Amino acid sequence: MKTLSIINLKGGVAKTISSVNMAHILAAVHGYKVLLIDNDKQGNASKILNRHNYSRPGVAEIMTDRKVDMNKVIQKTDYEGLDIVTANMTLLKANLEVLLDQQRPQQIRFKKALEQVAGKYDFCIIDNAPDINISTINALVASDDVMIPVTIDDFALDGLAELKEQIDNTREDLNPNLTLKGCFVTQFDSSNEADRQGEEYLRSMAEYPVFETHIRRTPKMKPSTFAREPIILYSSRCGAAQDYKKLVEEYLKN
Ligand SMILES: Nc1ncnc2c1ncn2[C@@H]1O[C@H](COP(=O)(O)OP(=O)(O)O)[C@@H](O)[C@H]1O
Ligand SMILES: [Mg+2]
Repeated sequence: MKTLSIINLKGGVAKTISSVNMAHILAAVHGYKVLLIDNDKQGNASKILNRHNYSRPGVAEIMTDRKVDMNKVIQKTDYEGLDIVTANMTLLKANLEVLLDQQRPQQIRFKKALEQVAGKYDFCIIDNAPDINISTINALVASDDVMIPVTIDDFALDGLAELKEQIDNTREDLNPNLTLKGCFVTQFDSSNEADRQGEEYLRSMAEYPVFETHIRRTPKMKPSTFAREPIILYSSRCGAAQDYKKLVEEYLKN
């Protein structure tokens, strides 16, 4: 099982949209077995896949339960090959509880839980909160790869240096495998000169690898979330559906 964290310290850059759609494409187009972990208390990935609830265990229990049973935590989605670990506001309290618990190691809880199901899935995609907290650190410790969605605006690069430092520290201290696969531009508007220049500038920076593929902005994206549908099903012909398929291919190639 390969584990990929989608992360950025900013909100609204399409972390959730990218996680859900990449996970769905890996399952639906490529036939892989995929586990999506919603690692944001807002639970947006859980909502898009119609699984948000307070009655079933989810990512909070992975953080707090010593003998968590992944078979009880993982739920099926409506899509063949795609399962989910959900999140809700209980993750807030769970993270605090972990920080107060000096008995057990705090940073390897995802990693240990995922070991239970490593043989069952080809990929695990983790949709992270726009934050460095104990569950996002757990995600980085459990991941092989990291991808950073970036939206071109005046503040596009805010927090990137801090995030890269966190990734480098995690690699050094706890997870020598961790690879920053790269940034990718989301919500790209090709008719906008600022978007074209911003992307070019990002590519010119040596610090961050950048994927060739960018994801075009489409008016279909928001309604696809209201419809609770991945974009390739909601609007197979829109730019973003094509682009997410291309991005997954590019990810699989390197
Ligand atoms: N390619 C796109 N085209 C248009 N809107 C998009 C696109 N990608 C994401 N969005 C919209 O941007 C907003 C933020 O996306 P989201 O994935 O929730 O970001 P994050 O998880 O980083 O906070 C949502 O309203 C979503 O519908
Ligand atoms: Mg999100």
